[in-house]
Amino acid sequence: MCGIVGILGREPVAMRLVESLKRLEYRGYDSAGVAVLEHGRLKRVRAAGKLRNLVERLAREELTSTIGIGHTRWATHGGPSEANAHPHIAGRVAIVHNGIIENFSELRDELRRRGVEPESDTDTEIVAHLINLELTEGGTPKEAVLNVLERLHGAFAFAIIFEGEENLMIGARRGSPLAVGHGEGEMMLGSDAIALAPFTSRITYLEDGDVVFLTREGFEILDEERRHVIRPIQFTQAASLLVDKGGYRHFMAKEIHEQPDVIGHTMAEYLDFAEGRVRIPDMPVDLAALDRLTITACGTAFYAGLVGKYWLEQLARLPVEVDIASEFRYREAPLSEGGLSLVISQSGETADTLAALRYCKSMGQKVVAVVNVPESTIARESDVILRTMAGPEIGVASTKAFTCQLVVLAAFAIAVARARGAISAERETELVRAMQQLPRLVVKTLEHENQVAEVAQELARAQDILYLGRGINFPLALEGALKFKEISYIHAEGYAAGELKHGPIALIDEHMPVVVIAPRDRLFDKTVSNMEEVRARGARIVLITDEEGASEHGAKAFETITVPAAEPFISPMLYAIPVQLLAYHAAVFLGTDVDQPRNLAKSVTVE
Ligand code: M6R
Repeated sequence: MCGIVGILGREPVAMRLVESLKRLEYRGYDSAGVAVLEHGRLKRVRAAGKLRNLVERLAREELTSTIGIGHTRWATHGGPSEANAHPHIAGRVAIVHNGIIENFSELRDELRRRGVEPESDTDTEIVAHLINLELTEGGTPKEAVLNVLERLHGAFAFAIIFEGEENLMIGARRGSPLAVGHGEGEMMLGSDAIALAPFTSRITYLEDGDVVFLTREGFEILDEERRHVIRPIQFTQAASLLVDKGGYRHFMAKEIHEQPDVIGHTMAEYLDFAEGRVRIPDMPVDLAALDRLTITACGTAFYAGLVGKYWLEQLARLPVEVDIASEFRYREAPLSEGGLSLVISQSGETADTLAALRYCKSMGQKVVAVVNVPESTIARESDVILRTMAGPEIGVASTKAFTCQLVVLAAFAIAVARARGAISAERETELVRAMQQLPRLVVKTLEHENQVAEVAQELARAQDILYLGRGINFPLALEGALKFKEISYIHAEGYAAGELKHGPIALIDEHMPVVVIAPRDRLFDKTVSNMEEVRARGARIVLITDEEGASEHGAKAFETITVPAAEPFISPMLYAIPVQLLAYHAAVFLGTDVDQPRNLAKSVTVE
């Protein structure tokens, strides 16, 4: 789950590689490194930790090479040390890798038997040694790489350079993404188009199994059967996606505050306000005839899927199963041929979600993807894309992508409900009108930020926090807890409020704050009963509710955060805001690395 880049250029590449790596840090930030051919010899500079450590080291070097590869790492095999940082070098070969070589211990044992002792704990170094051995046995770089690729199990994207070869770079992909960039008299490789955006907008996406041989003059692709193939050159708008913090202290803060706008942009794609109608792209199956829908995703996107289940079942009367992609992909779930599956992913590169998509397709299902990056692998492999218009999300904690996913799922649920005759045209218009209020209501919700920040400081003193919700607010409780733990490193757990007395209530004492998410809807009284149960056992309650809920039961809470009253259908998009703000301000108070929390990466491209 790393970012890789390679440039075969006409001017010094070291700082250009760094420029690309900055755009790939969302894939991991455990270490970074570059390797170049300096006066014909391989020269490597690496540093553990964030990219800025590498930049400091590079400032002490005078590198003039015009060919090089770079890497930003999320550690899989071996800890996040400098020794394990990429590029890895063996003899004449330098390599960067994104993915996991599953048969690496077997290959490492073979190397040891052949007298080669690896320096690092990584699977990648093994590949470098295998290629180098092929070279020492007389193979050309192309032959060496092709032979070694045959022997690898698992997922990979590689960029490889060779001592003595100033005009050759080899790339290969299986499972992990890799794109070729076309410059003026120069060629590049990158994990995605955004990495190459400073240098080119002309991109060729490699297909699974492809190997590419680059020179400054052009490129040649072999497919997985090793036949020559032509892959199209596409123009991307990735350059316009480069972003800054826009005056905010963190990307996460900026992204939370962008929600009124990006929710509006996403609604504009799917809602016709003038007509009071939903319009979604043509579906590859007859929605009226569907007997069930399978939704798969990971993390926050999974919780968005859970909210979607409530909408689709209640409104459209369509049975929905929502699955964590890493479980689903191996569960061998029976799926009917010609049925519909839906996957949700901000990045469109999450390995487990991609595998789930492929499983669904192998079962003869059509796949709809709710995805934020239109050029991603998931977008490209799906039958239909329902794009979220969140724009680039840089903070590792997903915020605006989540609310935009909810907007798309809400629109989809209304469209399915209409297609199945489960709601009238009048009800459709009512729901569209309710959604139309969202940007204004989100702005009003954000106005409570100062109060939420004070509550967050209280929560930041706790060791454990419980989040409770019922019905459609249960996934919000899960999302609130995930957000809190991933950036504050405080243990938080989301629970269905009614499930509390089946175990977790044993945890409750005066040290355990409980965040209760409870709009004044038809389940409000039930949730309040659960709130009373924990209150009776000493818990300090933070109640998130609307004005009516606050006036009825706010006095029972230690703190009440008020959200504007709204049609219950749209409440998940509103209640997402305070849970995001609670997590954000607790993390700021604790001084953690809000945008790049420890051990995480924005895009999880390994399983
Ligand atoms: O890019 P994806 O939406 O597929 O990513 C899924 C999860 O990795 C992601 O939502 C993760 O849980 C976030 N860090 C949560 O804030």
